[in-house]
Amino acid sequence: MQLNDNKRISVGLVGLGRLGRQHAENLAFRIPHCTLTAVCSVKEEEVEAAKRDLGVPYGYTDYEEMLRNNELDAIFIASPSGFHCKQIEQALAAGFHVFSEKPLGLYIEEALRVQEAVIRHPNQVFMLGFMRRYDRSYAYAKQQIEAGAIGEPVLVRCYGLDPAQAMPSFLQFAKSNYSGGLFLDMAIHDLDLARWYLGAEAETVWAIGGSHRYPELEQLEDAETGAALVQFEGKKMGIFVASRNCAHGYHIETEIIGTHGSLRIGTIPEKNQVALMDDRGIVRECASGFLERFEQAYVDEVIEFIRCIREDRKPEVTVADGVQSTILGYACKQSFETGQLVAVHHRK
Ligand SMILES: NC(=O)c1ccc[n+]([C@@H]2O[C@H](COP(=O)([O-])OP(=O)(O)OC[C@H]3O[C@@H](n4cnc5c(N)ncnc54)[C@H](O)[C@@H]3O)[C@@H](O)[C@H]2O)c1
Repeated sequence: MQLNDNKRISVGLVGLGRLGRQHAENLAFRIPHCTLTAVCSVKEEEVEAAKRDLGVPYGYTDYEEMLRNNELDAIFIASPSGFHCKQIEQALAAGFHVFSEKPLGLYIEEALRVQEAVIRHPNQVFMLGFMRRYDRSYAYAKQQIEAGAIGEPVLVRCYGLDPAQAMPSFLQFAKSNYSGGLFLDMAIHDLDLARWYLGAEAETVWAIGGSHRYPELEQLEDAETGAALVQFEGKKMGIFVASRNCAHGYHIETEIIGTHGSLRIGTIPEKNQVALMDDRGIVRECASGFLERFEQAYVDEVIEFIRCIREDRKPEVTVADGVQSTILGYACKQSFETGQLVAVHHRK
């Protein structure tokens, strides 16, 4: 391990929206050996607010201009999904380490192009934001599986449900930015987790969906609620339910069934350990959204990115995870749109 104890990693962040602003605060205040040196957004007011509130010295409305800042070591991408691939390729070509939010790309060809770019730059760290792998409960479940606690994992069942309360802000997001749709945007975390826990790639997918409360999602060629049934290699299985219309809050639940037991994560997705007892009975509040539920994971994944740069090693989440999850998410989208069973051509 090569470690220069005094070396701070200087980061430039692009995208200061719902998640990017939180990443900016984490990079500025919560990540050891890291300095948030520059921020970029097409919205000048967001750049000015980040400079003022977080003490960031450089602000840009032009991404390519930020890439010319030679004080930077790494680029952190939290822009809308349709920009990820191009911005990753540009940052790698300019010599930077790169962290990108999920999904890697919205199309298979662009994801494969990024994979080639990462391979062409072996001395630069690339990491994708599959933060659930850094959540303490998900990481503990993985350790249990590896220790043989449930035997051979054979089926993963996931619920990824966004709060209905967030629908107005999601509709704005979906209209202004092409999100890739329910499966590539939301279910992608669960698709990645299933690959991770099962240790297998998908072979076939059947996906369905509908928009019952918010039919305007159909005009965006998206679904409010969807489900996918996935056959993985070795006759392993995945069941994925995703929705943007969860009345009780942000419900993320995962079950891994093995030959000798099972594990469940977040079965009742409580906000905290408090039970309120009053004339309604016993009330346990639900987590309100991704920033609250995965607060620790958003910090820990970035701590790992910075450590990888300082220690000259590669993170566990690779560009190949990004490619395979995009291939699987895209197959779900195709199946939903065509009503057909879709074969998944994963690339090893
Ligand atoms: N890991 C997770 O749990 C998670 C959660 C939410 C969002 N995300 C991902 O993070 C990304 C951002 O999502 P969000 O909800 O913060 O989006 P958002 O629309 O709220 O914010 C996007 C930001 O990017 C800026 N921007 C847009 N085009 C740009 C360009 N060409 N150059 C520079 N800046 C540009 C916007 O001004 C805004 O600051 C998406 O890819 C999304 O999939 C991941």
